[in-house]
Amino acid sequence: MRGVAATAGLVGLGAVSGCTGGRSGSGGTTASAAPPSGSFRFPRDFLWGAATSAYQVEGAAAEDGRGPSVWDTFAATPGRVRNGDNGDRAADQYHRYREDVALMRDLGLRAYRFSVSWPRVLPEGTGAVNQAGLDYYRRLVDELLGAQIEPVVTLWHWDTPQALQDVGGWENRDVAVSFGDYAAVVGEALGDRVTRWLTLNEPKTVVDVGYRYGVHAPGYTDEAAAATVTHHLALGHGHAVRALRTVAREALIAPCLNLMPTYPADGSAEAKEQARLRDVRENTLYLDPILRGSYPSEAFDVIDGDALRAAIHDDDLEIVSAPVDWLGVNYYNPVYVDGTGQRVQLHEAADPASWLEIYPEGLYDMVTRLDREYAVQMMVTENGRPDGRDHDADGPVARDDERIEFLRTHLVQLRRAMDAGADVRGYLAWSLLDNFEWSEGYAQRFGLVHVDFDTQIRTPKLSASWYRDVIAAGAV
Ligand code: FCB
Repeated sequence: MRGVAATAGLVGLGAVSGCTGGRSGSGGTTASAAPPSGSFRFPRDFLWGAATSAYQVEGAAAEDGRGPSVWDTFAATPGRVRNGDNGDRAADQYHRYREDVALMRDLGLRAYRFSVSWPRVLPEGTGAVNQAGLDYYRRLVDELLGAQIEPVVTLWHWDTPQALQDVGGWENRDVAVSFGDYAAVVGEALGDRVTRWLTLNEPKTVVDVGYRYGVHAPGYTDEAAAATVTHHLALGHGHAVRALRTVAREALIAPCLNLMPTYPADGSAEAKEQARLRDVRENTLYLDPILRGSYPSEAFDVIDGDALRAAIHDDDLEIVSAPVDWLGVNYYNPVYVDGTGQRVQLHEAADPASWLEIYPEGLYDMVTRLDREYAVQMMVTENGRPDGRDHDADGPVARDDERIEFLRTHLVQLRRAMDAGADVRGYLAWSLLDNFEWSEGYAQRFGLVHVDFDTQIRTPKLSASWYRDVIAAGAV
């Protein structure tokens, strides 16, 4: 699924100047990106930011009462994660959040998206609250607010408590209810200071990569389970929305979906039909229940229809479609299919993440389509690419020109979509920091800021200084 590890190459540049909070890299050369042209101007109150998730950056896996998550278990299983890596230490944000918030402030970020670790707050998934875990997130939020950075809080970014996996995980309908209870706990603790909430991150990735292809936790290849989990995740989202509404009255709540525009790879009628069906699997299967209160009729054909039907109980869709305030859009790549439904790659992919076919216009197509068909307020909650393979994986990567080009071209398309009428309130780059990239371990680096995982030293890359200039100018 995801590409091969970065191989060594040499980049000898030092740290980017002007971004304090990191340290100078070897040589201390000052690199500077070409200034933004300023042709594409964004609204003054646009929420420029960056994103991370708990298991990918926090570390402190066994500290202060955190319980194990499915990713601890998965990473501990030989052969599951490249190089046997795990999130035990990750980027150590649990201990270094002050330094990281200072970095964000230096970049001029106006928003930071992070996720709360369910097993840090509820080590057993339900029941007793681990106050030390909740306190961490209060400290982090206070630090952000003190730096005038808006927290955007994701309630679940894949790190389901292992205790709940032991009773069936998301295949168990009760887990959707437990997710609502957990949302209430977090909402109560942070609702006085957090406005922007995301319920689930990318349910599709867990359904497909975790339950269908077995490449992410929990590592199953089970079509029926994938279909059941599709619905239970939607139901969990609905329970979380309900819970947050009662404890956090000011909350602006959204699901966070990874959406992929689908296109026929050629002009044949067959390819067009396959692209239409693929759109159901990639997009409307997740959008429609939440935003329209119903599954698209083809949903029952493109995944295990019997299992999906069996999972849906009376009145579920009313819960699933509890009104939301906005939609978090993660955009990385398009999907082209031929007349047999096979995926075809038409554009260059982001080496070493071969799954990431680069097509910035896809962001325009997706955002304008969401505006047209769902009339929903949006924020891009993830977009980015890893360092190219030729960078030295172990040294500070200063000249990440390919990341600048990726972000710039996507921002241009986003601005075009806004000109066309789409209501987009912000853009969060993935990611603030290099981090644990799931089954690729530490081999794929998506950060604006380089992390040396031995020393935990942060070194802003060239893209960080470029992004700082974009934010300051309010334009690309
Ligand atoms: C997304 C995930 C995020 C990160 C990026 C590269 O699918 O939500 O955690 O892994 O991909």
